[in-house]
Amino acid sequence: MVIAIKFGGSLLFNKKGDIDSNLLQNFVEIIKSSKNIKSVVTGGGILARKYISYGRSLGINESYLDLLGIEISRVNARLLIGMLGNLAYPVVIKSIDDAKMAFAMNKVGIAGGFLPGQSTTSVVLQIAESINVNHLIILSDVDGIYDKNPKLNDDAKKFNTINTEELEGIILNSSENQASAGEYRIFDAVSLQLFKRNDILVRLINGKDMGNLKKLLKDDFQTSKIGTLISKV
Ligand code: UTP
Repeated sequence: MVIAIKFGGSLLFNKKGDIDSNLLQNFVEIIKSSKNIKSVVTGGGILARKYISYGRSLGINESYLDLLGIEISRVNARLLIGMLGNLAYPVVIKSIDDAKMAFAMNKVGIAGGFLPGQSTTSVVLQIAESINVNHLIILSDVDGIYDKNPKLNDDAKKFNTINTEELEGIILNSSENQASAGEYRIFDAVSLQLFKRNDILVRLINGKDMGNLKKLLKDDFQTSKIGTLISKV
């Protein structure tokens, strides 16, 4: 089994906006004790969004704002590399070639963003494809994929399994602007297209409680009750 993980930026910071060092330490322990986790992609989180919103108010264009988000996600990646020590490939993964190199050297490859116009979910799918990952775990701060934003709607319904058609419907119907810098949602349109063209199993779970990740690593990935499984059909 080869596993890749997207570590959502929302997990990195606590409500006060400080780095959640406890959660990070728990996450690092899990990576250390698993032989199967081969790549982690860190998001930008609140810090990326702050830079992006300041930049936007200063008149900077969207693709340059994306570059700001990418830089911040790479700082977050560096933090994780520092914590993992020798287990990690020593530099931030910035391309598919880097990801393949890390894999060939049997190191955990840690990436942030790659290119403007997408999210770190797209990055983790690109890496997963390139190193033949079969299980991808997206760690977010919500319990799964909902029919609408659960943070804004009390009546939002969680899916145990969602197929690409249903997911596409949610992405297209969302009133939030999916294509602005800082606003690419958990599963953006680029990620969806990447997902459709491979056989990688993807499950989104809540990483605020690292117990979920521990449990999922022991569970059967397809039938687990944790989070939402994204299916092709
Ligand atoms: P993300 O939005 O992917 O990080 O990247 P996040 O904070 O973890 O997001 P959640 O928690 O999953 O919602 C931050 C920003 O960096 C830019 C985008 O502007 C994105 O919104 N980015 C990231 C890119 O332009 N390209 C990339 O490949 C990755």
